Amino acid sequence: MKEKIQRWDTTYQTVLDYPAPNNDLIRYRDLLPKHGLALDVACGLGADALYLADQGFDVSAWDASIVAITRLQKEAKARALSVTTSCLEITPEAFTKARFDLVYVHRYLDRDIIPAIIQSLKPGGVLFYQTFTQNTAIESQTTTGPTSRAYRLVANELLTHCRALDVKLFMDGFTLNIKTGGLEARAQSLVVAEKRDLL
Ligand SMILES: C[S@@+](CC[C@H](N)C(=O)[O-])C[C@H]1O[C@@H](n2cnc3c(N)ncnc32)[C@H](O)[C@@H]1O
Repeated sequence: MKEKIQRWDTTYQTVLDYPAPNNDLIRYRDLLPKHGLALDVACGLGADALYLADQGFDVSAWDASIVAITRLQKEAKARALSVTTSCLEITPEAFTKARFDLVYVHRYLDRDIIPAIIQSLKPGGVLFYQTFTQNTAIESQTTTGPTSRAYRLVANELLTHCRALDVKLFMDGFTLNIKTGGLEARAQSLVVAEKRDLL
């Protein structure tokens, strides 16, 4: 664990330009609550946490890399945005029940924390989860994302994790390239799902 995070620290020390937010987060923003308390799980440099803060969410952002968290704090200050950062190893115990209106996870897979993530949603809260797949239609899997298949989703896996939620959007397998009209194999699977409101 320590070595893995040290590698992330080194990576984040060498990234010069601040990354842009996830295009799919922007594209599907209307499926998320208008505002409320949002958590970016394993936020890295936190480009998406900053986007959510700019959209009016009260954002918490968690990551084990101190370099990433320090850079995120500086960047938030420079943009006059407020993000509550925590540098921690994320375990199921880090989550409290019914706390967040939105939990956002991008390019991170730890199956052990998924039940706690779902429990941490308020009724009516939304989970946005997007990460790499083992999609066999993609020949060169190793160019992006984890080399170990264990850290990649199997087909339909996000749906199985979201059985207790109402799925608003699920993308897996292939996607339509709007420019060419052709189908392209997806490197990442995406689910947006809502916790039922208590009646
Ligand atoms: C591929 S990066 C994704 C960062 C960000 N979500 C994004 O999409 O740009 C994975 C992140 O997970 C963090 N990480 C890995 N294991 C962790 C753990 N057990 N607890 C907290 N953060 C962890 C790393 O520090 C790294 O920033």
